[in-house]
Amino acid sequence: MGNFDDVTEYIKELYGTREFIPLHVPKFRGKEKEYLERCIDTTFVSSVGKFVDQFEDQIAQISGTKKAIAVVNGTAGIQVALRLVGVQAGDEVLTQALTFVATANAIIYNNAHPVFLDVDLDTMGLSPKAVSAFLEEYGELRDGVCYNKKSGRKISACLPMHTFGFPVHLDELISVCKKWNIKIVEDAAESLGSEYKGQPTGSFGELGVFSFNGNKIVTSGGGGAIVSNSIPLAEKGKYLTTTAKQPHPYEYFHDELGYNYRMPNINAALACAQLEQLDAFLAKKRAIANSYAEFFNTKGIKFRTELPNTKANYWLMCVELENKKERDAYLEHTNSQGVMTRPIWQLMFRLPMYENFQKDSQKNAIFLEKRIVNIPSSVR
Ligand SMILES: Cc1ncc(COP(=O)(O)O)c(C=O)c1O
Repeated sequence: MGNFDDVTEYIKELYGTREFIPLHVPKFRGKEKEYLERCIDTTFVSSVGKFVDQFEDQIAQISGTKKAIAVVNGTAGIQVALRLVGVQAGDEVLTQALTFVATANAIIYNNAHPVFLDVDLDTMGLSPKAVSAFLEEYGELRDGVCYNKKSGRKISACLPMHTFGFPVHLDELISVCKKWNIKIVEDAAESLGSEYKGQPTGSFGELGVFSFNGNKIVTSGGGGAIVSNSIPLAEKGKYLTTTAKQPHPYEYFHDELGYNYRMPNINAALACAQLEQLDAFLAKKRAIANSYAEFFNTKGIKFRTELPNTKANYWLMCVELENKKERDAYLEHTNSQGVMTRPIWQLMFRLPMYENFQKDSQKNAIFLEKRIVNIPSSVR
């Protein structure tokens, strides 16, 4: 069993404190106060305002997409993105069981069914091989529409998630989904600033979704963004997330069921100030990742680093322990010493509401579930 005293010592030195070290906290070192004050002074704190427009422009630019839609949180963004690609009640959505619960919840909010497929060991995200194997066994194309032969349901989307900011194998996933005519929505909640072959995550699927929750690399307090290279899809997204109201100088006419999922201007103001610091945050996180990589290498503990041809944003950094016993000892030791660490999520099918959905072997997901631990990753 490892002795983890020097791990906690190292992390305390790295963060220059003997106090409790959280997993991830935001840093407000830019124009946050100034922009928030501007909202209050102008009374534009709510559903419209200049910061919402500015935020949308900045996100489109950062994600390399044509349009971004600011929404109330990432979960709502994924819910709407799935609807936008045509997910309807009773359809199926292919996704990973190794994820934060919001990914699966967003599927259920559309009254659709998740199918949980395995992840790759190297990316920790949805495995194109697993998707392909599943579709070869159960997929059936009828008039260009993919159905699951086992359930009889239509498979209308694939929802990969870029775990902790490490991009999934996008080229391979896109090729499989193309073959089976399945639309991709990227759950890029954790991966703002990450790249795959030089292109930002979130820009590969029909739509991508980011989160700006307080624990993310950049925060709006709470918030999300849907991005797309399809202007019609993005415009429909804006429409649906702003109550589906037909434009009119004074009449209220809503021609379908929309949502009040707008991001308030006051949240966008915070995000705009934070986005101005994104490059600095990315650089600082990379420096922390380099220090960790060097240290954990000397300890014989595997620190997860980006794969070739990708750039990770190092949002939440993690180590891979030898087995569950080591993992538990590591968690116990670090947390008792005031260094916050957390295991990766429990797999979705272990949660009561997700027990009965179709899944594959989950071999890699189960392996990672027993070994991956997140370590303090805040910008210093
Ligand atoms: C993978 C993943 N998907 C979705 C979400 C949902 O984002 P939000 O908290 O903004 O609703 C999060 C984070 O919170 C996440 O980590």
